[in-house]
Amino acid sequence: MTTFSVDITDFTHITEENFTEKEREASRFLESNANLNDEAISSNGQLYKFRDRQPHVKLNTGYSLPLIGLGTWKSEKGQVQAAVETAIRAGYRHIDCAYVYENEHEVGEALRNIFKEGIVERSDLFITSKLWNSSHNPRAVEAAVQRTLSDLGLSYLDLYLVHWPAVTGNVGPQLEPPYQVTWRAMETLVSAGLVRSIGVSNLSQKKLDKLLEECSIWPAVNQVEAHPYFRNSSLIQHCEILGIHVTAYSPLGSPDSASLMGRPATMQGPMQDTVVKQVAEKLGKTPAQVLVRWAVQRGTSVLPKSVHPDRLRANLDVLEWSISKEDFERLSSFSYQQRMVNGSFLLNPKGPYKTLEDLWDEE
Ligand SMILES: NC(=O)c1ccc[n+]([C@@H]2O[C@H](COP(=O)([O-])OP(=O)(O)OC[C@H]3O[C@@H](n4cnc5c(N)ncnc54)[C@H](OP(=O)(O)O)[C@@H]3O)[C@@H](O)[C@H]2O)c1
Repeated sequence: MTTFSVDITDFTHITEENFTEKEREASRFLESNANLNDEAISSNGQLYKFRDRQPHVKLNTGYSLPLIGLGTWKSEKGQVQAAVETAIRAGYRHIDCAYVYENEHEVGEALRNIFKEGIVERSDLFITSKLWNSSHNPRAVEAAVQRTLSDLGLSYLDLYLVHWPAVTGNVGPQLEPPYQVTWRAMETLVSAGLVRSIGVSNLSQKKLDKLLEECSIWPAVNQVEAHPYFRNSSLIQHCEILGIHVTAYSPLGSPDSASLMGRPATMQGPMQDTVVKQVAEKLGKTPAQVLVRWAVQRGTSVLPKSVHPDRLRANLDVLEWSISKEDFERLSSFSYQQRMVNGSFLLNPKGPYKTLEDLWDEE
């Protein structure tokens, strides 16, 4: 019996009266799939369970996703293998990968070692990867996942996401191929047994709603940026209502992506914030731990990235304590809101996204 507790922020202010028909359908689906036991916590239809001493969320596909996963973007070759091995030994059961991170082969080496040592079995892990923008053509989708599976040394992924609603080299006013066409190819991966759940990433409310009108399999997850400097609350609440789980990326403010993303090196991130530091000091924790705990406490899963053993262990150590209601509210009310990964590298005067408003639909 676990002794940990996770206070999930409730979304009780969202009333069914305002639900669209899609949202009502989602709500009925989640109710009929509710399989609560003593250890489960429910929040607005999302089901949380403890397994392996870690809180999991039950996705709309029935599979369980561990709330804290290791990020691997920018984790260098020569470092990422050790990071993944250390993380799994330390208790991580969820690893977030992507083809474009150019390190899936090294993550695969780590997984092979871990399995050989018998530390965990494949079924104990939750492995995510993502379809890159160069493979949206439906004929390219299966080859892309096969390449990732081969690099990771796996026969299936737990979750495969469309990384961005963007296509490499796309000119013209519309996304080509249209997102829905790529999504249909993603759906076939589930029936082929190559992936268990499929989802989206960086998808605005408007683009998500359009996809829901045409898809056969609902996305299980929307992976988006979220931290106190970019709460992304309206999109998160919309996904919650739809039964689409949200995973928060760049939870520490992604300090190592500043030059890659064209942010000034001097731009302050949430780890440097005075209030975050005050809360951390009060709790005897680090700012990074406060940010990871904040994400879990608000009901998202979260992907802190680190290649340092002490940091990645500390980032997982957020389950036996909590942020007080008062401090949680302080952390959730910063007026300064700014994306760290704003997708400006996708803008093209000849393509479908000429401005950031086109990409994010002005959320
Ligand atoms: N779907 C998408 O489009 C998308 C976009 C962005 C990110 N992601 C995913 O989300 C993951 C996390 O986001 P992110 O990599 O942008 O950034 P992040 O996790 O917010 O921040 C990572 C940075 O924080 C440092 N760090 C980690 N733990 C720390 C600690 N305890 N104390 C101080 N510094 C610490 C890391 O350094 P060290 O490594 O040197 O420790 C690294 O510089 C990614 O790796 C990726 O898996 C997905």
